[in-house]
Amino acid sequence: MPFPLHRMRRLRSHPWAREMVRETRLHPSMLIEPFFVREGERKRDPIGSMPGVFQLSIENLVKECAAARDLGVGAAILFGIPAAKDAHGSEGYSERGIVPRAIRALKKEIPDLFVIADVCLCEYTDHGHCGLVGTDAAKGSVLNDPTLELLAKESVAYAEAGADMVAPSAMMDGQVMAIREALDRRGFEAVPILSYAAKYASGFYGPFREAAQSAPRFGDRRAYQMDPANAREALREVELDVEEGADMVMVKPALSYLDVLRRVAERSPVPVAAYNVSGEYSMVKAAAEKGWIDEERITMEILTSIRRAGADVILTYHAREAARYLSRHA
Ligand code: PBG
Repeated sequence: MPFPLHRMRRLRSHPWAREMVRETRLHPSMLIEPFFVREGERKRDPIGSMPGVFQLSIENLVKECAAARDLGVGAAILFGIPAAKDAHGSEGYSERGIVPRAIRALKKEIPDLFVIADVCLCEYTDHGHCGLVGTDAAKGSVLNDPTLELLAKESVAYAEAGADMVAPSAMMDGQVMAIREALDRRGFEAVPILSYAAKYASGFYGPFREAAQSAPRFGDRRAYQMDPANAREALREVELDVEEGADMVMVKPALSYLDVLRRVAERSPVPVAAYNVSGEYSMVKAAAEKGWIDEERITMEILTSIRRAGADVILTYHAREAARYLSRHA
């Protein structure tokens, strides 16, 4: 036996030694919980493919966000489910839309909650695409530049309602610049932008599309979201969004993209978020329901791995559960 024998196990034997030398830590303040807000009253409609997640009417949203705040969860991000959809997604940028009303209620009832508004059109368009769809020549394709104006309008409506941050997820080129300009013009220079910079065309969004009723009616999102095979391109997306004024950038999904997350985190001059998306959540829930995995262990292992890969903050449907696990172990 060589001497000295490198006894890696010395620091693993005592729980407090393990705690002391742990390289990656999680704290509830790093977690952002997504919420789906719908019209109506006393609504708490379960989402079949996402056990534990609901479409909430505004007063129930306020209750659940208050619970998240009490557990120390860092922020809430809102997705709206409008009563009616149209070709232009006009409920998305109307100041009377579901999200602006929800933001106003949240800021009134829970003033210290950090409220992020997702900015996209897919929840509000009848065709389910993230931008305007061309007729004639550009039939069926999603139009980049005409969409920018609507995303900018939507962001201003959310900022006016009191959003603390806007998060554009439509993957239109130039969306961060268009939103930054519009916000500044209207006096919202202080509202930061969290850009979904490296957002992949992923099968892991399936359950979200049920939750937000936003599956595209025709085609798919591959003409604007990123190809899962590309990593270098993610760095370029991040670079451009930072140039355009993004205050934070996101990699999405998280688990199949930890390598991308690591590369982005190494280079990004701004904080990096990772979105532990619906499909990643639902797989854990489904396996846990079958008794095949230990949900708490798996959840914490997943969140730790995302953090270890370089995320400063994590968007996760497990936010409150994780915050509870963390407080129990503290
Ligand atoms: C688009 C948007 C999507 C998600 C967040 N914002 C869906 C999509 O691009 O199809 C997915 C989030 C998740 O799966 O949890 N507005």
